[in-house]
Amino acid sequence: MPTIIFIQPDGSEQRIDAPLGLSVMQVAVNHQVPGILGDCGGSCSCATCHGYVEREWAQHIPVAEPYENDMLTCAADVTESSRLSCQIIVTPQLDGLVIRLPPTSR
Ligand code: FES
Repeated sequence: MPTIIFIQPDGSEQRIDAPLGLSVMQVAVNHQVPGILGDCGGSCSCATCHGYVEREWAQHIPVAEPYENDMLTCAADVTESSRLSCQIIVTPQLDGLVIRLPPTSR
């Protein structure tokens, strides 16, 4: 089972074994990761699952669809690393994926 690493703005981290096929948002919500709320349940309509994907991991994740980029405009502290974690599905290739939480997430 892949491990996803969530890192808070203060540097604290949670390492979570993530079932294949779940979204990264759902994994975070299931383990009460601070800053990831998933208010819309993963339908890409709330932006409360915003996180930063480290550059080395971006190549293992499909690029954001236009509707994800549109919704990201509603998030704070957006950077070129920003993704909505509900749109990232856990695959074996994501073992060790690092998601950093934005400073406004707490
Ligand atoms: Fe709502 Fe991701 S959970 S946009």
